[in-house]
Amino acid sequence: EKKISIAIDGPAAAGKSTVAKIVAQKLSYIYIDTGAMYRAITWKAINRKINLENEQDLYQLLKMTNIELKQDGKNQRVFVDGKDVTEEIRLPEITNHVSIVSKHKLVREEMVARQQQLAKNGGIVMDGRDIGTYVLPNAEVKIFLKASVEERAKRRHQENMRKGIPSDFEQLKNDIANRDRLDSEREFAPLKKARDAIEIDTTSLSIEQVVENIMALVFERM
Ligand code: C5P
Repeated sequence: EKKISIAIDGPAAAGKSTVAKIVAQKLSYIYIDTGAMYRAITWKAINRKINLENEQDLYQLLKMTNIELKQDGKNQRVFVDGKDVTEEIRLPEITNHVSIVSKHKLVREEMVARQQQLAKNGGIVMDGRDIGTYVLPNAEVKIFLKASVEERAKRRHQENMRKGIPSDFEQLKNDIANRDRLDSEREFAPLKKARDAIEIDTTSLSIEQVVENIMALVFERM
């Protein structure tokens, strides 16, 4: 049985990390949330009051920043220079600025190098926007998850309510659509379905159904 690489891409709040985590667990693979890495550097840049349009400054900052993703049971915790920022990087302040930071070529190239290093031995499930197209172009399984904006905003809204986080559905819908637009329209490694990715529309599927679909593809290619 070969240790393969699984790339899961798609727009914001399509359920990528939820299903990626489950798939990784079923296979005892490593799960890498690349969005968390972009969120982590955005968190640090905002804390340092760095101009998010300044590519050079962000790149210099990233080069001296240690970002770690640590498995903690079912969940993953995110550390920036040893500090646990798992919750903070999900705040709207970060979510609404991360697409500015992630558009810069120098930032992306450095992140991609780190991601490829983490994935070099296979046995990996990686989710993001450019995994199938750019980070792991040779991944054995490439998935592109999508769902309507309405449905994605609804899921995120329910998740927020469950966690007791203040949440405005219309605002969420706007923010998600806006982030998708920025991520799809950026020049360098935009959000895009890889030619050989399998598209799964999750709008009317349960998490279990999406996972089953992916696992079937995985077993074909292992
Ligand atoms: O996946 P998540 O929503 O946490 O990603 C946050 C942001 O990070 C995305 O909106 C995008 O701007 C950026 N990102 C990216 N490339 C990736 C993963 C995330 O540009 N591979």
